[in-house]
Amino acid sequence: MDNLPEKGKLSDDQMEIIPDGGILHQNGKIIAVGAFEQLKKQYNPTTIERLEGNYVGLPGMIDAHTHICWAGSRANDYALRLSGKSYLEIAETGGGIWNTVQKTREASINELAELTAQRAKKLVEQGVTTIEVKSGYGLSVEQELKILEAIKLADKNTDADLIPTCLAAHILPKDFDGTETEYLQHIISKLLPEVLKRKLANRVDIFVEKNAFSVQAAKTYLLKAKELGFDIVLHGDQFSVGSALLANETSTLSIDHLEAANEQEIAILAKGNVIPVVLPGASLGLGEPFAPARKLLDAGTSLVIASDWNPGSAPMGNLLVQATILGTAEKLTMTEVWAALTCRAAKALNKTDRGILKSGNIADIIAFKTDDYKEILYQQGQLKPEKVWKTGKMAT
Ligand code: NIG
Ligand code: FE
Repeated sequence: MDNLPEKGKLSDDQMEIIPDGGILHQNGKIIAVGAFEQLKKQYNPTTIERLEGNYVGLPGMIDAHTHICWAGSRANDYALRLSGKSYLEIAETGGGIWNTVQKTREASINELAELTAQRAKKLVEQGVTTIEVKSGYGLSVEQELKILEAIKLADKNTDADLIPTCLAAHILPKDFDGTETEYLQHIISKLLPEVLKRKLANRVDIFVEKNAFSVQAAKTYLLKAKELGFDIVLHGDQFSVGSALLANETSTLSIDHLEAANEQEIAILAKGNVIPVVLPGASLGLGEPFAPARKLLDAGTSLVIASDWNPGSAPMGNLLVQATILGTAEKLTMTEVWAALTCRAAKALNKTDRGILKSGNIADIIAFKTDDYKEILYQQGQLKPEKVWKTGKMAT
């Protein structure tokens, strides 16, 4: 997938396949990718691992949007949704994000790190080797720092790379005595400098929605976070529109969700360089329509697919199942789906060392026991990678 364009639609002829291929890696990095026999002759490696039978090798998947650091369960919210209540209604009556905030505040750093590492392990088993993880269930300076510390600790206890994002602007906490602008100002002056000082995250996210933050308040916040040196992203157009322009104007790295995006929002995104990250797991968890992935690609944007794994809107936590379902619903080519899970997802995290199997990149490799890459999406997430290497080492 070395030569795939960063944006726009992709056909399956663009999928680069190397029959009888091999990957040479050393000290966690890929040295060369090519025909096995040729690599053997050219480099004469000291150790060769030859997989018996037929395998398809791909770059480790990158889940560019998750909230896997949380405590508690929202099964009750799920039951209420099945009986007809909306996500926003449930949030107003004791469920929703605030419910998870209370449970997460009660948990210790070690408990949260353990829960996060367990969830990361499940993703690694699916072939995900890089996982973005948001805070956002602390919503005070002290509690957000606790969560980011827990993510850092979990990173040491999992094979995947965990990429932390500060989502202190998830909702206006019920116990904050002030307006949304005052809360965001408080985060900017008290939390973000500490996050930088402790090197806990270099990404900042905000949820722009009716029950969360307004476009206007988000704009000031994102620009200030950028000034401090953070990469900025946003949760936008999940239930109501208006975030595409904000994303373009503030040059966020990505705009995530987009289930409510209409033609106008798509046209705005097509004019800029913001990466759309769509989250089929949130549509499946909420019973909402999928984001218009086909239309976005046709309009010429990039497309990334992430799991959004969280206790409220997206409890499934299976990226491959979700990507394959989105593919069938939205008519995405297999190449578009794989690009959305690998090379294009790396761009959404500003990572230049992964997402493609090529010399110089880290050796994040997954191998499925099949002779045809098409089998993987065809089996709708039930064919799991038999082998996962993270920076050259077999994941445990
Ligand atoms: O991406 N939309 C906002 N945040 C999460 C949901 C968080 C939750 O419900 O706990 C999301 O869907
Ligand atoms: Fe999210």
